[in-house]
Amino acid sequence: MNRRIELSPRLRMVAELVPQGAQLADVGTDHAYLPAALLLEGTIASAIAADLRQGPLSRAKATVQTYGLTGRIGFRLCDGLKGIRPEEANVVVIAGMGGETIADILSAAPWTREPGKTLILQPMSTMSDLRRWLWENDYQILEERLAREGDTLYTALLVSGGQMAPMTQAELWVGRNTPDPLRGMWLEQWIGKVERALEGLRKAKQEQAAPRRKKLEQVLSGLQDMKKEWDTWQ
Ligand SMILES: C[S@@+](CC[C@H](N)C(=O)[O-])C[C@H]1O[C@@H](n2cnc3c(N)ncnc32)[C@H](O)[C@@H]1O
Repeated sequence: MNRRIELSPRLRMVAELVPQGAQLADVGTDHAYLPAALLLEGTIASAIAADLRQGPLSRAKATVQTYGLTGRIGFRLCDGLKGIRPEEANVVVIAGMGGETIADILSAAPWTREPGKTLILQPMSTMSDLRRWLWENDYQILEERLAREGDTLYTALLVSGGQMAPMTQAELWVGRNTPDPLRGMWLEQWIGKVERALEGLRKAKQEQAAPRRKKLEQVLSGLQDMKKEWDTWQ
């Protein structure tokens, strides 16, 4: 039997943010590939695999059986962190979900901002809403990473409770600049997305679109400045 699970680049990025010895809770685990891989690699001390639905949890149980990890991962059928007690996990992963869902899950579990708790969040959409929500709700983003699968880039946020310095509109959209080699491509993709959105709004020519257009123009200008800054680092 293969004793190693080959994670996708997106899940490998998340795995690399998990500290050694973690008591992990993987919320929205689906196949439980992440906790199973981390147990096999000896990175984590314990794991709870949680999911809202029975189907994904059955897949998680199948993975655990396949890799001979029976008894080493606990399972919870629950919404977010509602079935997990704070003392059961010091590291919480919420990956592969929309930013709003991630914020809703954290909102229902304020213990996640207590000292000693680490969060690894991997939003698939509405990332600016999630960054803003974290900032406004006393969480700090300690680090952001990027991973590439084909032409698609993914981000993962390492987060804990605490105060974060205010972020600009552009930083809320793309995170703060880092020397990550994928950062230039990430900024280019976002500049393209905002340009296309502005093009659509210009064509609409509606009065009501004016405030949205103004906001997007500000975001675009901020993104272009960040790209220039990143280019000077190269
Ligand atoms: C796209 S899969 C992501 C699986 C894995 N975390 C990953 O990143 O590859 C999303 C999973 O989240 C689960 N999910 C969605 N909302 C949830 C919630 N509020 N609480 C727990 N699980 C949830 C879904 O049932 C599904 O299995």
